[in-house]
Amino acid sequence: MKTRVQVSRTAWVAAVLAVSALLGWKWTHLELDAAPPLAGTPQNEAGAAKDRGAAPPKRGTTSYAPVAMAEPFHELVRRMSAAKPIVMRKHRELLEERYDLSNRPARGVTMSRGKPIQEGVRVKLPLGVTWEELSEMSPEEIKHRGLWPKGFLPLPHPNHAEGGMVFPLHHILELKRQTGRDLTRFDLDFDLPEHFLPEYPPPMYLTTRTDLGDVSRGQLVTLANYYELFNGILNPKQLEGLRLLVTPFPQQQFNATADRRSLRPHRGVSCFDCHVNGHTNAATHLVGDIRPQEFRHRIDTPSLRGVNIQRLFGSQRALKTIEDFTEFEQRAAYFDGDPVIATKKGVNVLERGSQVHFMAEFQAILDFPPAPKLRWDGKLDPAKATAAELRGQELFFGKAKCAVCHPAPYYTDNLMHNLRTERFYKPQWVGGRWAAGDGPIKTFTLRGIKDSPPYLHDGRLLTLEDTVEFFNLVLELKLTPQEKKDLVAFLRCL
Ligand code: HEC
Ligand code: HEC
Repeated sequence: MKTRVQVSRTAWVAAVLAVSALLGWKWTHLELDAAPPLAGTPQNEAGAAKDRGAAPPKRGTTSYAPVAMAEPFHELVRRMSAAKPIVMRKHRELLEERYDLSNRPARGVTMSRGKPIQEGVRVKLPLGVTWEELSEMSPEEIKHRGLWPKGFLPLPHPNHAEGGMVFPLHHILELKRQTGRDLTRFDLDFDLPEHFLPEYPPPMYLTTRTDLGDVSRGQLVTLANYYELFNGILNPKQLEGLRLLVTPFPQQQFNATADRRSLRPHRGVSCFDCHVNGHTNAATHLVGDIRPQEFRHRIDTPSLRGVNIQRLFGSQRALKTIEDFTEFEQRAAYFDGDPVIATKKGVNVLERGSQVHFMAEFQAILDFPPAPKLRWDGKLDPAKATAAELRGQELFFGKAKCAVCHPAPYYTDNLMHNLRTERFYKPQWVGGRWAAGDGPIKTFTLRGIKDSPPYLHDGRLLTLEDTVEFFNLVLELKLTPQEKKDLVAFLRCL
């Protein structure tokens, strides 16, 4: 029997295998949430450390995933579906500890096609302090007294030790209705409530045909309707690029081998299963770039609107072209950055000149949504803006320092910045994630930002109000309650 446990066949190997059969194979470390830790085995150090609240080992046992599966598929399904309600309940408790998840739409402001946006700060305060008191404290004091709000810590994947692509239910249902392809996982469901997600399906705007408005005509664009919707609007090269963007290809959880998380052998996922209509449905994943597993970031699907004016791609990868990212997604990110497993599961190698370029050219004409209050320079038109919005703009470019990294007209400096959030908290476990800082992250653009909750690379912030409280502490701004409201009013215009 071959597994990633490459050690001499002592008695504990059998024990480790028994537990891993019970719990499912987990990346680089066994997760011991549901079973007592096995003392003395290198593989369970992360799990055991987690139980003690101690730091995980600095390196994993191996960077590789096992190629041959020891467990029969029907056993895997039985075991993981049985564990699913427990996993989901634990994660729901984690979310409820961090956030106020209630459905409270803001009045008078919607996403581009009319879905209400959620209002108010949703990150919960630690007991006994107010946001004003926190902003008066130094980062050291907040760290020392353990007062960094839990919702500002990295957000873990619904099952961090397991990871992989997870899709919101409404997308699973609509895709199935249109194409018959089923993105249900037997082991996991998507976690965040629907009211915190981008509108669905989102409108699609093209830089080349601004006269048309929403070219998706309110539909989810898939292999079933793309031709009918776009023939006569795109050139043949773009049309072929779009076809490839809506065509499924094998991936880690959705493939035809027994090492998958769909009940039936699967054709795979398409780019627009996450970047729905060139925007996002907030489908989540773990970043492929980091090992071991507990250090990997959860990642929230970014919108592809406006990638044409961007120069860096990926929250940390910093790839330099859309072509590179397109190739990288399907060959590496789909398989957690593991080319060994990619070969096993049937990686589709895209040809650079006739496929990658076509897909990139289509992505490069995806426009930001209209922002009727902005002028040519990306600033507010005083004739159209309210007093609060104008005050918010002044703060954005002045006291609140946002424009240092988010300059007009596109509200990104096309760089990465290390916000050094670890100044505010001691390293700690958050679910299966070891939180010890984020490192340098891409400055995401703020154009169209009200359309793409949740916020930050891992989706840890649910509303724009949350982002303002976050930056108020991170940048040590000491904004007043009125100034925070004004800033939110401005962000909603972008
Ligand atoms: C799990 C859903 C998912 C699928 C499927 C997917 N992506 Fe992504 N995409 C993401 C996530 C998450 C990121 C952020 C990656 C990071 O932070 O490193 C991303 C990033 C990107 C970016 C960079 C965006 C930016 O703002 O930096 C591009 C371009 C992109 N994807 C294109 C594609 C293409 C092309 C495909 C199909 C080959 C594809 N994606 C498939 C989720 C997905
Ligand atoms: C030092 C540079 C810097 C400054 C100053 C800054 N930001 Fe950011 N901003 C970033 C980076 C980097 C990210 C991505 C962080 C992440 O994803 O973890 C970001 C992300 C965001 C996001 C979420 C974007 C998304 O797509 O999820 C919002 C909203 C935002 N910033 C608003 C603001 C506001 C409002 C201010 C001023 C109060 C501000 N930022 C000041 C660098 C900065």
